[in-house]
Amino acid sequence: MSRLAVLIVAAGKGERAGMGLPKQYELLAGQPMLRRTVQAFAGYPVQVVIGQGQQDLAKAALQGLELPPAVTGGATRQESVRLGLEALAKNAPDFVLIHDAARPLISAKVIGDVIKALEGGADGALPMVAESDTLRRREKDGRWTLVPREALYRAQTPQGFVYAKIAAAHRAHAGNEVTDDVALAELAGLKVEMVEGEEKNIKVTRKEDFALAEKLMANDQRSGDVRTATGYDVHKFTDGDHIMLCGIKVAHSHGLEGHSDADVGLHAITDALLGCIGEGDIGQHFPPTDERWRGAASWKFLDHAASLVRGRGGVISHVDVTLICERPKVGPHRDAMREKIAEILQIELPRVSVKATTTEGLGFTGRREGIAAQAIATVRL
Ligand code: CTP
Ligand code: MG
Repeated sequence: MSRLAVLIVAAGKGERAGMGLPKQYELLAGQPMLRRTVQAFAGYPVQVVIGQGQQDLAKAALQGLELPPAVTGGATRQESVRLGLEALAKNAPDFVLIHDAARPLISAKVIGDVIKALEGGADGALPMVAESDTLRRREKDGRWTLVPREALYRAQTPQGFVYAKIAAAHRAHAGNEVTDDVALAELAGLKVEMVEGEEKNIKVTRKEDFALAEKLMANDQRSGDVRTATGYDVHKFTDGDHIMLCGIKVAHSHGLEGHSDADVGLHAITDALLGCIGEGDIGQHFPPTDERWRGAASWKFLDHAASLVRGRGGVISHVDVTLICERPKVGPHRDAMREKIAEILQIELPRVSVKATTTEGLGFTGRREGIAAQAIATVRL
């Protein structure tokens, strides 16, 4: 079987988008665009190329994904691609796919078609879509002339090549500025085949393209998997003068007994999140027999579960927890609890709900022997 590598170029400044960060690090439906693009190539070995000084942004955007360290790109896209290709030279693949970080909507079908063309013997392959707008060209004398669109196609990425051939082409033509790798391949006389591209494989270029890409994604099966799971926990009252509840220290006539800080609320949410990705439960990740977790702050458990979710490409849509006890009163602490949970999960406040109920004096919670919590989490994968 041939070896393949994917080079994702993300070293641009995103000047036309003109947002707070270079566009590839801006959130697209809750995740950095670069992360979405990388995940579209799940299962293939990906090498990311980033801009000078973008290390921290890239690290945050790609947290939890198994990737080799990012390579630093150059002042132009062509330069970034060349540096990425050089980085692959040590362990050179047979084929390389070169893809823009700014095209997060690439489908498995187009990726597969480009690879098929290479396996069929082409030096290079690229997806193209037929132009459907009527095009006019402005002539030197100011007149507009009609350009017959039948023969016109738009080039997309990933553009795939025999690695050794495109690497040689980049080295030989470093001085000739071109806009994509196929143009360079043609300068080097390579045989490039066309495969069917997709309209939805847009290059996110301007700020308004983010909204368009989000709409296109909503239609996309891959982002349509919604998972929900519940979590439940109980801790018993013991001597003390405060308890930890949803990350907040609450003064109380008793403490709560437990190996960690016994925060029932955070434990229930942690289990709900683990449930969404089928990752067992809190006891499996943080065994009560393990001395490391004695007296541990429970935000660490929740933070771990959230990073596991993100590592799967998941987005936490919502968490809702109900605290079941007669006392302490939850109401006065509810806002602080929501804020704390949102902070730990790195999600917006409206995505966090904290509720409370008594059991009308019935059962163990009614007898004030302890506190129970039940949670539900919703994750989009
Ligand atoms: N790119 C790169 N290195 C550069 C310039 C661009 O790796 N020196 C990458 C971009 O990050 C993007 C892709 O090439 O994923 C396509 O480029 P473009 O859409 O033009 O992105 P930017 O150059 O960042 O945007 P702009 O031209 O608006 O500044
Ligand atoms: Mg550019």
